[in-house]
Amino acid sequence: MIRGFLFDLDGVIVDTAKFHFIAWQRMAAVLHIHFGQKENEQLKGISREESLDRILHWGGITLQQEEKQHWMDQKNAWYLECVAKMGPEEILPGVASFLREARKQGFSIALGSASKNAVPILEQTGLLSAFDQIVDGTVVTTSKPDPHVFLEGARRLGLAPEQCLVFEDAEAGIEAAHNGGMRSIGVGDPNVLHRAHRVIQSFKEIPDPSALIHTL
Ligand code: BG6
Ligand code: MG
Repeated sequence: MIRGFLFDLDGVIVDTAKFHFIAWQRMAAVLHIHFGQKENEQLKGISREESLDRILHWGGITLQQEEKQHWMDQKNAWYLECVAKMGPEEILPGVASFLREARKQGFSIALGSASKNAVPILEQTGLLSAFDQIVDGTVVTTSKPDPHVFLEGARRLGLAPEQCLVFEDAEAGIEAAHNGGMRSIGVGDPNVLHRAHRVIQSFKEIPDPSALIHTL
């Protein structure tokens, strides 16, 4: 029986993939590396450093650790310029009411994100108090599809993996959930997320958390 929900952040709660895209694209332009939507899709759920490594690899560029750190800091500064303008209106449709209902119905709720910016984003959108536990990129360093981020979320909620349902927009995130022995809901494109137990386009399709878990 599902008793807890583990939420990815970027692309599930807020559409920050567009901000990551803008920031990586600014860097790629300086380094003369082609970086389009297709490449951005492959970075969903992937840590900042691994994302940089992949972009540099695509561009055939090798950098020293110090230069890599410079680009990670610069990219994050550009990303935070976008994040600074965020407010509650950036919460994806149906998410805030799903979180409220889930709490009312007694489910435990954790965040399981690779991002080191999770807390500021949740603060700015007014969602921080909706979560019982936050597991983010400051806690976990391995990238999805490694299941650590979700296993740690389940552990902190005091639940077994099979009692948790993961919401993810990234292929790597769905894989991470399954690698951890959890069920998953894909949020987004069914062609990308076909391995999920169910795919939704929006939380507006699933207004009632209790009813949802009976469909799995
Ligand atoms: C994930 C995003 O949630 O967080 C990735 O899907 C991103 O695109 C990763 O690289 C790390 O985020 P941040 O905010 O720590 O750079
Ligand atoms: Mg995501």
